[in-house]
Amino acid sequence: MCGIVGFTGRQQAAPVLLDGLEKLEYRGYDSAGVAVSDIDKNGEPVVEIVKAKGRLKVLREMTDDGRSVPGTCGIGHTRWATHGEPSVVNSHPHYAKDKRIAVVHNGIIENYQQIRERLTKEGYSFLSATDTETVAHLLDKYYTGNPIEAISRMMFHVRGSYALGILFRDRPGEIYAVRKDSPLIVGRSDQGNFIASDVPAILKYTRDVCFIPNLEIVKLTDQEIHFYNVDQEEVEETFSEINWDTEAAEKGGFAHFMLKEIYEQPKAVRDTVSPRIKDGCVDLEELGMTGEELAKISRIQMVACGSAYHVCMTAKYMVEQTARVPVDVDLASEFRYRNAVMEKDTLVIVVSQSGETADSLAALREAKKRGFRVLGIVNVVGSSIAREADSVFYTWAGPEISVATTKAYSTQLAAVYLLAIGLGRARGVIGEEAEKEMTAELMRLPEKIERILEEKERIQWFANKFSHSKDIFFIGRGLDYASSLEGSLKLKEISYIHSEAYAAGELKHGTISLIEDGILVVGVATQKELFEKLISNMVEVKSRGAYVLGVTSYGNYSMEDVANYTIYVPKTLECFAASLVVVPLQLLAYYVALGKGLDVDKPRNLAKSVTVE
Ligand code: G6P
Repeated sequence: MCGIVGFTGRQQAAPVLLDGLEKLEYRGYDSAGVAVSDIDKNGEPVVEIVKAKGRLKVLREMTDDGRSVPGTCGIGHTRWATHGEPSVVNSHPHYAKDKRIAVVHNGIIENYQQIRERLTKEGYSFLSATDTETVAHLLDKYYTGNPIEAISRMMFHVRGSYALGILFRDRPGEIYAVRKDSPLIVGRSDQGNFIASDVPAILKYTRDVCFIPNLEIVKLTDQEIHFYNVDQEEVEETFSEINWDTEAAEKGGFAHFMLKEIYEQPKAVRDTVSPRIKDGCVDLEELGMTGEELAKISRIQMVACGSAYHVCMTAKYMVEQTARVPVDVDLASEFRYRNAVMEKDTLVIVVSQSGETADSLAALREAKKRGFRVLGIVNVVGSSIAREADSVFYTWAGPEISVATTKAYSTQLAAVYLLAIGLGRARGVIGEEAEKEMTAELMRLPEKIERILEEKERIQWFANKFSHSKDIFFIGRGLDYASSLEGSLKLKEISYIHSEAYAAGELKHGTISLIEDGILVVGVATQKELFEKLISNMVEVKSRGAYVLGVTSYGNYSMEDVANYTIYVPKTLECFAASLVVVPLQLLAYYVALGKGLDVDKPRNLAKSVTVE
């Protein structure tokens, strides 16, 4: 995710900002910038911005390690592109009109398009494609000399999440900050005061920090820090001492990026879903396709690799049920060479976290060469697949560092649900009421994922018992088969335990011969129609000596009649169950690997982004 650092004190700000931004590099970024306030040679206050695409090294070189940007008060930012491609113009900080204000932002302004249209009519012009620039101009609009008032008025107009660092040109030496649903801290020290999106950025200078409460505004000078609520009343806040080391802090206190990213899933899913739901209905405007074009799609061809392929498997069940469009799913490495027979009006969907996977990119090019419209479901903005696809539906998972994907997978599922609902509606398969019921439940998924995470100890305990398994099997039917594939892949990727996932009905055609005493078989069963069938399959393996773990939804208590151990996930609409059952499966893989003492974040022989064939 993007990183924010701010400093106002008694030494040059830019070197401190660069230093802090460097500590946030692990979060991933594609460009960086700083804004520093100073008094020019005519005695006029100025705010100077310097930005660069690429690594921080480039910004360091441009600014002579910060020395060429004078001033003791400034804000800095590393950007992970969301709205608008990675470029100098889209990178932060952003000026408001006449360079009166400079802003850095983490988060997503959901209603930025409406604000942008309104401000454009009022004479504001926009240089970038970002949502952030709308905040800069809104602040300008409301600024009449009182920064706290301007910020508070701005807050009443923006929807979404934000952590903002703000400089007002006529307030040299002062930094303003505010946050809603996106983290931001302030730190104090003898040399000056800081803001940062994460602790490691300022740990070198201070351990005395305050985690800014949601919806509070902060004013910092080199000597003082004041907090205000949205009604502009001053409030008292307490500071606390940070006692973690830097490395632990970078992982937010988690032992591994994988676990951190598992815990980021509620937020990632929320960020992916909520900007796409307007008044209870799915808004697919960003695809650039009319309702008629959506209705005309005769077939969908999905292609992807690895976990993204499992998302496509889930999508097949989900989209076919919700939109009644036939969906074909291919591994990208197969599709690119098989000269598939495809009907006119087929929409090709390529799913990829990185947007750079060689086979997925080749599949996209093949489809385009043959004249098909391609939609990319992609996480990395400005990546090759995002650039070359006709339409892009971004997943807002933020940078994923662990090789084994978790939060990107969950956001891909969410993206697929949105598409399925939008398509179902456009094709008249589901009505408004059904759509609203589905979107309301989609919005509840993040809190349900949180509930599963609260029970992680049960999974941890269970995983420890099976860390030394030789083989582990996963079985499921329908949507649960797709989830089983992902559970099995997660496990083998990081624990190196041989694992296979089977459509439970296929067991009798071979795999059952591998079942021996004590072998763990994980049965996933969330679909009512298929529940009894899966239970029968579990009985079959159990009677041949398997130890059976059942994963199902609360309410399906008959699972305990056959399973040796049962993990329950909250109830949801059956079509969304994959989003919940995958969480215990991720945790199972994680804790099994941990039990074996393996480096979970860097599994042997695997790469995060496979850019070669
Ligand atoms: C690698 C990663 C997987 C990922 C797959 C596809 O194998 O380890 O986690 O699912 O590539 O990557 P993509 O970036 O296209 O989603």
